[in-house]
Amino acid sequence: MKIALVTGITGQDGSYLSELLIKKGYKVHGIIRRSSSFNTGRIDHLFNNKKLKNKFFLHYGDLLDGQSLSNVISKIKPNVIYNLAAQSHVSVSYELPEYTLNVDAIGTLKLLEIIKSTNKKIKFYQASSSEIFGKNTYKTQNEITPMIPSSPYGIAKLCSYLLVKMYRESYGMFCSNGILFNHESPRRGGTFVTKKIIQNLVRRKHGSKEFLSLGNIYSIRDWGYAPDYVEGMYKIMQYKKPDDFVLSTNTTCSIKEFVNLSMNYLGIKYKWIGKGFKEKAICPENGNTIVKIDKKYFRPIDVSYLNGDYKKALKAIGWKPKTKLKELIKIMIKEEINSKNK
Ligand code: NAP
Ligand code: GDD
Repeated sequence: MKIALVTGITGQDGSYLSELLIKKGYKVHGIIRRSSSFNTGRIDHLFNNKKLKNKFFLHYGDLLDGQSLSNVISKIKPNVIYNLAAQSHVSVSYELPEYTLNVDAIGTLKLLEIIKSTNKKIKFYQASSSEIFGKNTYKTQNEITPMIPSSPYGIAKLCSYLLVKMYRESYGMFCSNGILFNHESPRRGGTFVTKKIIQNLVRRKHGSKEFLSLGNIYSIRDWGYAPDYVEGMYKIMQYKKPDDFVLSTNTTCSIKEFVNLSMNYLGIKYKWIGKGFKEKAICPENGNTIVKIDKKYFRPIDVSYLNGDYKKALKAIGWKPKTKLKELIKIMIKEEINSKNK
């Protein structure tokens, strides 16, 4: 039985990837951080499943603590490591630049060094990000587009991306980067914009009058569905050689359009009025504010446009996204309503 180690197992992607790897016949080990409150909500269904007693394991560790990583790796002897752990919030990275660089860049370096010195046959997947393209002005971004990150998070992820390439080329290690564009799901954290929008609008549908405060509603993202993307991660690691791949949908949508699509799906009537910081969506019947702009959610620099070209992944590993944006919104809204009714 093959053994996988997943860092970031308690996160959105870690939970879906664990389910997939178990289906593929892996024993899955995950690294979790000690926390004063429960942080395993996304993987409790795996951990508490008696049938998975010999297939799913958790270990305390932290990307800031090389000794803990080294101990887990020498104990479980993985065939593959998926490094998904990160301080993954771009906006927070401006407030915690040093911490973000330590976890997202130096943490990756720690893992690569452990592999190099213990067993170079361990395959390594790095969760890279479209945020590394930053201020580029290309219509679509692929593996050879200039990388000009503009946030501490993007810079840390570019550092990891380059380290992975360097260890691959210098030491012949099987290390690959998945350059993933935004991907969402009902398991998305509530501070990311899609989940924040859907949670607020579903509460409104259930009678809440609380308005939705947003920052830059004109930035454009390429949003896909997380379970499709973890399949891509797996395929990247089955490819005949280590390499770097963009996973995306090659479709775009602004934050404002995402809000409109969500309100349309929920049957919330709205009208946009005003401009700049005064722009808002109101209820045409009673004038109540539904969405307003709040300066506090703006970033020092925002990546304004992302649109990924996934042709290389399609050709080499046969991956393409299965879920369209409207379907993703429907899935997220339905699950949000279900969780409210539980
Ligand atoms: P997420 O939900 O924020 O999960 C991040 C995971 O990293 C959590 O399990 C978190 O643990 C863990 N973590 C954070 N700091 C850690 C540390 N110091 N040591 C050990 N674990 C730590 O992120 P995600 O959306 O699943 O994304 C997975 C990875 O893909 C991340 O590296 C992210 O940067 C990258 N990525 C995501 C997207 C996307 O659209 N989702 C796109 C491109 C790249 P806690 O639960 O304890 O906080
Ligand atoms: N979070 C948030 N909250 N974003 C907002 C808000 C708000 O209230 N209002 C507008 N936005 C805009 C942000 O400025 C950004 O342009 C866009 O919505 C998306 O923000 P996030 O959902 O926070 O995602 P992200 O694109 O910054 O980062 C995500 O995708 C990256 C891949 O491109 C994260 O998952 C990163 O970890 C990932 O690497």
